Amino acid sequence: MGVLESKVLKGFVRVCDDGWNQGWHERNGGNLTYRMTKEEVEECKAEFTYDKPWVNMGVKAENLAGEYFMSTGTGKYFRNMSLAPEENICILEINEAGDSYRIVWGLVNGGGPTSEFPSHFLNHSVKVAETNGAARVIYHAHPTNIIAMTFVLPLTDSAFSKVLWQSMTECPVVFPKGVGVVEWMIPGGAEIALKTSELMKKYDAVVWAHHGLFVMGNDFDSAFGLMHTVEKSAEIYVRMLSMGMPMLQTIPEERLADVAEAYGGKLAEDLL
Ligand code: 13P
Ligand code: ZN
Repeated sequence: MGVLESKVLKGFVRVCDDGWNQGWHERNGGNLTYRMTKEEVEECKAEFTYDKPWVNMGVKAENLAGEYFMSTGTGKYFRNMSLAPEENICILEINEAGDSYRIVWGLVNGGGPTSEFPSHFLNHSVKVAETNGAARVIYHAHPTNIIAMTFVLPLTDSAFSKVLWQSMTECPVVFPKGVGVVEWMIPGGAEIALKTSELMKKYDAVVWAHHGLFVMGNDFDSAFGLMHTVEKSAEIYVRMLSMGMPMLQTIPEERLADVAEAYGGKLAEDLL
């Protein structure tokens, strides 16, 4: 079977389509990376070529040496991914030092992986270590409401976590660890990658002020689901503030931990 027929490519492209349909990916906004399993690499390997140059990433993660990643291309539009995956997506091999990649499949008309690959790469590194290899997906999108919130709330992990937990009852269950917040920074380099991956040691979702959201998942469903849940909660909060009426009640702060516990989770109560 070739890459285009593989289940993994279909799952990858489905996230892109779903994210586009949610309105999270204007122009080339957002990016997605997936760490392939050994079996998936074997299945696709016949189509790989090893003649492209190694590209240094400016960041390093030894625990990802020799891994293969599927990545959206830089400047490519999510709305086009499913129409021509071979033009918009690539597969990368990581070198033995864990500091460079080379393209082994895709981007047939030229280009490179997402400009946020350093952030994706370091986030993968943190999550692979944390989950003993279970984590496979890093997803970055530009959802409107979570971005809007970064103009009116203090840019702290606790302010965002508390508001998101209190705006929709499922939230303490879906992300009991809360969310991290990175102040406004220049995107696309090692500096924001290091900052984000530090927060990923504590959280599974990190807000980039005035920019968007990064999430992790063990699979496509959990990564997409986390993005969707955070943004839905943000939307409820923004709509509530937009109604022009005083807030009469909310989910009691002292019961948030009970919601998480009811579903077997443990709320990061230090954020309250
Ligand atoms: P890329 O097109 O390089 O993936 O960049 C889009 C983006 O969202 C940058 O943060
Ligand atoms: Zn972005």
